[in-house]
Amino acid sequence: MAEQIVISGVGVWNPEFTITNDELVSSYNAWAESYNAAHREQIDQNKVTAKPQSSSEFIEKASGIKQRYIYQKEGALDIDRMRPTIPERGEDELSDQAQIAIEAATKALEQANKSAADVDVVIVSCAYTQRAYPAIAIEVQEALGIEGFGFDMLVACSAATFGMHRAYEMIAAGTAACVLVINPELVSPQVNYTDRDSHFIFGDVATATVLEKAETATADHVYEILSTKALTKYSSNIRSNFSYMSRANDVDPYGPDKLFHQAGRKVFKEVCPLAADHIEQHLSRHELKPADVRRWWLHQANINMNTLICKRLLGREASREEAPIVLDEYANTASAGSVIAFGLNHKDLKSGDHGVLCSFGAGYSIGSLVLKKR
Ligand SMILES: CC(C)(COP(=O)(O)OP(=O)(O)OC[C@H]1O[C@@H](n2cnc3c(N)ncnc32)[C@H](O)[C@@H]1OP(=O)(O)O)[C@@H](O)C(=O)NCCC(=O)NCCS
Repeated sequence: MAEQIVISGVGVWNPEFTITNDELVSSYNAWAESYNAAHREQIDQNKVTAKPQSSSEFIEKASGIKQRYIYQKEGALDIDRMRPTIPERGEDELSDQAQIAIEAATKALEQANKSAADVDVVIVSCAYTQRAYPAIAIEVQEALGIEGFGFDMLVACSAATFGMHRAYEMIAAGTAACVLVINPELVSPQVNYTDRDSHFIFGDVATATVLEKAETATADHVYEILSTKALTKYSSNIRSNFSYMSRANDVDPYGPDKLFHQAGRKVFKEVCPLAADHIEQHLSRHELKPADVRRWWLHQANINMNTLICKRLLGREASREEAPIVLDEYANTASAGSVIAFGLNHKDLKSGDHGVLCSFGAGYSIGSLVLKKR
């Protein structure tokens, strides 16, 4: 029989600071007014486009987001700055991203009843790493005292699920017995707080999961991974051009196209059917139908996307209990959303219950795991 591989621990860490929609909108609107006043003449001559006003009502209706966590609030709402203030740390200090990774990892290890000595591999998988090298994963490995090896992976919105896929494969291949997958989604430095279309989308968070062989798992809540499934399809509809190449390209490394930007409506239309088909195909591998799934831990970008995907799968709306929503509190946390949904909503499942953990977004990339509670 093939090796049984499980998720035995999950950790969710959030920063202490939040920004509500009202706070965000009043800062953006004040910035837009001041921008328009400063460019009045060019706007009147149609040489510059006036910045439109944002609205909390629109944000909540269009996305379901009510607030977001932020690693450092200072600076982000200051209309003379419009980006968080995060002092650079020295090369001998723990990096910001490693610090939040360790917060989530510690929680996941504790839930899995595991210590550093049990872990073979650390994967840090997220939408951005704060430097190219040495890998954040190796820094985390050193700080936690883990032997073996670590590496970083970037797969945008599907970084967490794709990281778990790699962990699953390593355990199946026998190259590791226990893998720590961490998603320190420190996204606020990449948000354009002066862009009405995207200033509300993201929040900071860190999540982590522990994957191991079923035979070594001793945690209270253990989920067997029945299988994994991944899909990518190239699209520039969600993009960041931030790059080490900017220096040689002689371009502004912080220009608007170097920050997160997207064609949100196109993404919505194209990704929903792709994700629903993907999940249906994945379930059919196990002769399961959507109606057999007790819980949907879906990517958390937009509540309307999740409603639509569930409707396509179930032929009806899913209840909040069946498909938990965390984006009202956390906003879009890049790859961590489905892991937060799982972390906060899994303990009530009964032995034999099935669940689907699925991410979808930039790339495009879709990653799913079909789980069964042990
Ligand atoms: C981003 C998103 C919430 C926007 O919602 P939407 O319903 O598609 O809204 P649209 O972009 O079509 O904009 C509708 C109108 O509201 C306006 N609008 C956009 N942002 C606004 C804001 N903050 N406040 C007020 N109005 C706003 C638009 O300019 C547009 O005006 P127009 O009709 O006069 O042109 C939604 O498209 C989305 O979530 N898409 C999926 C994105 C995704 O999953 N991305 C993954 C990221 S990792």
